[in-house]
Amino acid sequence: MRTESGQIFRLEDYKPSAYLIPGIALDFALDADETLVTARLRVERAENAPDNAPLELDGDALTLEALRINGADAPVSSYEATPDKLTIRKLPEEREFELTIVTRVLPSSNTTLMGLYVSSGVFCTQCEAEGFRRITYFLDRPDILSVYTVRMEADRKAAPLLLSNGNPVESGALENGRHFAVWHDPFPKPSYLFALVAGDLGVVTDSFTTASGREVSLGIYVEHGKEERAAYAMDALKRSMRWDEERFGREYDLDVFNIVAVSDFNMGAMENKGLNVFNDKYVLADAETATDVDFANIEAIIAHEYFHNWTGNRITCRDWFQLCLKEGLTVFRDHEFSADERSRAVKRIGEVRALRAHQFPEDQGPLAHPVRPRRYREINNFYTATVYEKGSEVVRMLRTILGEEAFRAGMDLYFERHDGQAVTIEDFLKAFEDASGRDLTQFALWYHQAGTPNVALSSRYDAEAKTLTVEIEQSVPPTPSESRKRLMHIPLAFGLVGPEGEDLAYESAEGAVVENGVIHLRKRRHTIVFKGVNARPVFSVNRGFSAPVTLCSEGRTADRLFLARHDSDPFSRWQALTTLFTDTLIAASKAVRGGKEPAFADDLVQLGLDLAADATLEEAFRALVLTLPSEADVAREIGHDIDPDAIHTARRALLETIARAGRETFGDLYEGLHDNAPFSPDARSAGRRALRNTLLEYLVLGEGTPQAARRQFDDADNMTERAGALTILAQYFHDTEDGRAALAAFEERYRDTPLVLDKWLQIQAMIPSEGAVSLVRSLMEHPHFSLANPNRVRALIGTFSMANQTAFHSADGEGYRLVADTVLALDGQNPQVAARLATAFRSWRSLDKGRREHARALLADMAGRENLSRDLADILERTLA
Ligand code: PHE
Ligand code: ZN
Repeated sequence: MRTESGQIFRLEDYKPSAYLIPGIALDFALDADETLVTARLRVERAENAPDNAPLELDGDALTLEALRINGADAPVSSYEATPDKLTIRKLPEEREFELTIVTRVLPSSNTTLMGLYVSSGVFCTQCEAEGFRRITYFLDRPDILSVYTVRMEADRKAAPLLLSNGNPVESGALENGRHFAVWHDPFPKPSYLFALVAGDLGVVTDSFTTASGREVSLGIYVEHGKEERAAYAMDALKRSMRWDEERFGREYDLDVFNIVAVSDFNMGAMENKGLNVFNDKYVLADAETATDVDFANIEAIIAHEYFHNWTGNRITCRDWFQLCLKEGLTVFRDHEFSADERSRAVKRIGEVRALRAHQFPEDQGPLAHPVRPRRYREINNFYTATVYEKGSEVVRMLRTILGEEAFRAGMDLYFERHDGQAVTIEDFLKAFEDASGRDLTQFALWYHQAGTPNVALSSRYDAEAKTLTVEIEQSVPPTPSESRKRLMHIPLAFGLVGPEGEDLAYESAEGAVVENGVIHLRKRRHTIVFKGVNARPVFSVNRGFSAPVTLCSEGRTADRLFLARHDSDPFSRWQALTTLFTDTLIAASKAVRGGKEPAFADDLVQLGLDLAADATLEEAFRALVLTLPSEADVAREIGHDIDPDAIHTARRALLETIARAGRETFGDLYEGLHDNAPFSPDARSAGRRALRNTLLEYLVLGEGTPQAARRQFDDADNMTERAGALTILAQYFHDTEDGRAALAAFEERYRDTPLVLDKWLQIQAMIPSEGAVSLVRSLMEHPHFSLANPNRVRALIGTFSMANQTAFHSADGEGYRLVADTVLALDGQNPQVAARLATAFRSWRSLDKGRREHARALLADMAGRENLSRDLADILERTLA
């Protein structure tokens, strides 16, 4: 196997830069084929830096056109320029000098979507993490903070709009139909937050008055004709701005805040100072084109990027190892925002489902890394569920441990102390230690140690002594390059649930620190004795998912059935039910594999029906109750020698069992949930639609005919119900007239709406049939599919690899081959997206032998190719290691 010799970056090698760049003036002569960039850098030798240190500036695919030092052309012998580095050896004696660097870049042939590129005729930039070096030579690292002045000139017709960070300063006409604009951002910022946008776009405007009375002009820029679809995003933006003032005391700081939606974007969105650039998927929404999930994502991502203004921009990362400093914290903040705006319980369940689906397999496989990694070869590969989602869980635990008040005091101190700085996780934690007087040394392991801790638990009640004795033990499994783990501080929220469902009081608890309903597990083993417990309780633990651990408690089915009906914490009710479903699906998969019929307990099925019909519960919660663990969820719990076909068969059998048992209840419920009110994206209405869609699947399965789904598809006045019905038709009736007709009608209706066509691709990518691989291959030939657009690739190939377990893991290896072919085809044009797609293979070792062999062969074949990108080579090598 070919080994990649790329440089490895290590946290312990961090050194402050010998030079600083306090100011930069950029001038762009924009032209799609060839843009000239003139950068004037004010350079300063850092204190204590040796006088003769050469200045090494980062570049990537750059062509140097000119270099001037203090206004004079630099002699050729004084520097050396390659596409990825500019080294200047002879520098002026003074501590401060000016460098003028002229580079030539090629926006329209830039397929990586990093640096300056063109998306649907619009110039835009993406600089995080290391894209600025594709624009000019620079100290492209986040601890170099500069004040930016940006001048752009472009053809006035092609690009009437010229935007950059900060506030607009000046604009005007030039000769030859060109014009210019100047923007100035007074806040020193790292290069990864630089942005410009130039093009012809429509706009929605509004304004926001901050708590201290500052008037901010808001603009959301979208393709002409799509302005109405930006209304919800604007509403979400204003709510985010208000919320950050109220919950965190954070006000906005510029005169304008702009958001631009582009159709070619590698990620979700980007928090560039004052000029957020978004994947249009996370801006555009209306009833006709967006599902309730889309609306919720838009709200969350608009908030997320806005919240970065303080957690990320005003206070940024010292180096990229600290990525979670801004991402984990900002995800936590957007989670809290959505929880406040919607249903907290439902939001929490969704977060935990996502964490388990994306972060747990990462943490349990070859790509596992700490929330704050210590080494990387390609930073792009560390925008992961661990850094983001587990990073958010760690901040949540911090709040659980400190309590709301001390947590807020710590945040306040962090903002006060570090505003304008580039800092580390240690700085972050220190603010909480100083504000609360607590020692967070052991807690900090959550940042440093990879792996999902296991917590094993058992309890026994002594009726005579009125004591409940709980034994808890923690262990952290080994992960790549970390074989020995230290003991963690695990905060477990709990309750003693009494016979009537009430939380029982106790007189004292000994054996561990127990405060405010939280057990602080800090040693390997704790035996906790609760005294003065007057009735036998059921022990409810990790309420609200207070710690991101795998819980292994003694399997008392009766206790779980009880908690699912009675726990005062809605998360724990859902968890109890989910555990029961998962366990029964594991047992059923085993039965199927052994050639037996799967069987399901009546009381579990009845529990599902009762909860679904319980009108005292929120509809969104009831929809979650009826949503069985996914095939991937079950596979993850089985953990080794996985046979996805058996899981699929078992799950289908449980769906049908519930469908038959609930036929009448579900029919009535479904009809009763219909309302004639005009569409509204609010959480309550969305919950009702979610429950209706969930019920519809059972109805169709119970009846064995597509009629109900076909009716909903035809009658729907919104995308949630239309796509929901189509999904069911595609899953179960794709080879019937109804299925084909619905798919064709949908394609016809949305042929020219790419974001909706993505749903059409996605829905078909999930069909678990024999012909799945060839269907996906044929959809890749569809005139509207393109490898150049990351949304199309994710919708079709990403969905196939993540949500079509039987086809991706097809026993003949053809599913793996399809993904591998796509990864290789993509790598030459967009390494970031190719590498991310390749992570679909991360759990290959847990499959059964035949599948494992197919995956290994393909991975080895890919890894042996010439000219792989650093991104892809890194993922493949770690996956195979
Ligand atoms: N920083 C962005 C966010 O999480 C994500 C991103 C990373 C976007 C890299 C583009 C490139 O908000
Ligand atoms: Zn972010």
